[in-house]
Order: sequence, then structure tokens, then C-alpha cells
Amino acid sequence: MDKWAKLGVRGHFEGDRPWAPFHEFLSEPMARLVGATPVEVVVMNGLTVNLHLLMASFYRPIPERHKILVEHHAFPSDHYAVESQIVTRGFDPAESLVTVRPRDGEETLRPADIVAAIEEHGSDLALVLMPGVQYYTGQVMPMAAIVDAAHRVGAMCGLDLAHAVGNVPLELHDWGPDFAAWCTYKYLNSGPGATAGAFVHERHLGTVPIPRLHGWWGHDKETRFEMNNEFVPIPTAEAWQLSNAPIFSMAPIVASLQVFEEAGGMRPLREKSEKMVKYLDYLLDEQLAGKVDSITPRDMDQRGCQLSLKVVAEGTSGPDVFAALQDADVECDWRHPNVIRIAPVPLYNSYADIYRFVSILKEAVG
Ligand SMILES: Cc1ncc(COP(=O)(O)O)c(C=O)c1O
Repeated sequence: MDKWAKLGVRGHFEGDRPWAPFHEFLSEPMARLVGATPVEVVVMNGLTVNLHLLMASFYRPIPERHKILVEHHAFPSDHYAVESQIVTRGFDPAESLVTVRPRDGEETLRPADIVAAIEEHGSDLALVLMPGVQYYTGQVMPMAAIVDAAHRVGAMCGLDLAHAVGNVPLELHDWGPDFAAWCTYKYLNSGPGATAGAFVHERHLGTVPIPRLHGWWGHDKETRFEMNNEFVPIPTAEAWQLSNAPIFSMAPIVASLQVFEEAGGMRPLREKSEKMVKYLDYLLDEQLAGKVDSITPRDMDQRGCQLSLKVVAEGTSGPDVFAALQDADVECDWRHPNVIRIAPVPLYNSYADIYRFVSILKEAVG
């Protein structure tokens, strides 16, 4: 407010953290979190908007290759986005949208089944879009293997990292997806609607001709204000930007990423996270076996902070247990149809929180 009062429009270029390049202050720390180079990352828009912008570039259906593979239980916004991309390109979701689902009686996807599904659709696949961490089960997907399988059949590959960023270590540059997108209001703590992240792999940057939706914020910074009509893309992921950076939605991300830097980044956080979930496993096994099950894979390679719990104790209802947790001020989440999602977060939760949580859960389950 002070800046607007004193500088007005000059705030774009003057003072501390000027507005025009504001997103640039986020590129390096964000790139460190996702294992990318700063030129591959841009903070802009919301997650679903970014998925659309990136699919405009990387979903290029032709009659011989038009399918998109997603997981059957994809987050609804991703499902709607993919379906509408198919329709607006003149194809039919009944033929072009294919899904991979857990085997009967299983909750999570077997990594080999995902790869097999990609191979099965093979040369029909234009795009594989998968999550980094599945929102319902907390399963960490075999991201490198998915990218590899998609590329082997000649498909593009995108990742939705909403539940992965700030939760598990990521190596986007080396794994090589064509694109990725994520929000900043889960493990990155930036508040609902805070600006989202996008990644475009280096091989698609620079002068590579690419279908893309354009706006003036993607235009070369040196000549942007010459206001001519010839679009010259910034040779980084910033070329996908359409509009001015929303400063009010980005300021919390600056603060959040500073906290991640102070904590030493993902490596020490992951080390603590692994110890926390193992301690939680131990307490649940010891005190609630046969009464509360976790559907999240047990294998550390397939999980981050999240545990998705199901109440299986006879005569006890999941919603009642969830209500009791809320009454005791435990912050967790009910996900339809019957999962309580909890996440001991290494940045701000303690081992004592975990102990307290299990004590409250035990009392609620009876
Ligand atoms: C996996 C996933 N995809 C998409 C979204 C939608 O995000 P946005 O509202 O920022 O578009 C969410 C939000 O929680 C999500 O978890």
C-alpha cells in the first residue's frame, strides 16, 4: 500500500522487489524445490489454469495419436481439464480419454501397471498426465518411470505436483517430463488461491517453435513496452506467462520459500519426514491395529508425509471419528467416501504432535 501511495506505477520498476519482475524472485528457490533449473520454472496463475496452458502446448492430438492417459481417480479438476482439452480439440473423451485404475480389491496403483497401461495404448497416446502424489491415497507415483514409459511410446508427459511439492524430493530436470504444474497452498503454505507453479523442460525453451497461448507478459522483457504486435517469446518458461504477476497472491510465496531455504531445503525435511511417518506407523501398529488401517503404501519410496486412514473398527463410523478429531483441535481432512487424511509435516509438526494425535484417535475409536 505504501509503495502504491508513494510510487504509483513506478512501483513496477523501483523500490524493493519491484512488481514487473516479481515472479523472478521466486524462480530460483522454487526451482530448487522441484529439482529444475530456474529457467524451467515460472510462478503464475492457478494450477488448473497452468494445466490448460501447458496442455495447449503439449497436447497435440492428431487422428492417429489423440489419447490422454490419466489415473482413474484423478483430482476432478484435472479430469475436467483433460476432458475439455479433448473436446475443444475436436475429439471425443469416450475414445480419447483413457484411465489406469488400481486392481480390484486394491487401493493404490502398482507402478508396473501404470507402465503397462502406457505401453498398452502405445502409439495412440498423445499425452500422459499423472500426479506426483495421489491426493486421496498419498501414494507417491513412480514419476521417473512414468516419464520414461511415456517418452518410449512417443507421448508427451506432464505431472501434477500439487501434493508432491514441498512434500517429497523432486528431480524434474533429470526425470525429464515435458511439463509440470503445482499449487502453492498445500505444503508450500501460501494460502488458498496463491499463485501456482509451472515447469517446462529446457528442451522446449528458447527458439523451439511450439504451439502456445500468448500474452504480453510472455514477450521479451527488453522490448515488451515498445508495444508492437510482433510476439518475441522470453527464452525461458516465462514465455508461458500471459499477464502481470499478481503481487498480493505472490508475496506469501516469497515468505514461504524463505522458510524452506532456512530449513535447508527438501533433503533435511525429507529425512525428518521419514522418521515422523515411521514413528506414526509404529504407534498405529501398536495401538490401533485392526481398528484403523492406512491405505497409503508402506514402502518409503511410495509415500510422503500423508497417511490416508480408514476406520475399520466394528461399530465405529469414520465421520464420528473425524468429528472427534476436530473437537480435539486436530487439523486433518475428511475425503469422500471414507478417508481421513493426515499429514505430519516436518516443517512445523513435532513428534509430540504425532503422539498426541494417536492418543486422541485411540480414544475416538474406542
Ligand atoms: C491434484 C490437484 N489438481 C488440481 C487442483 C486444483 O487447483 P486450483 O484450484 O489451484 O486450480 C487441486 C487443488 O486442490 C489438486 O489438489
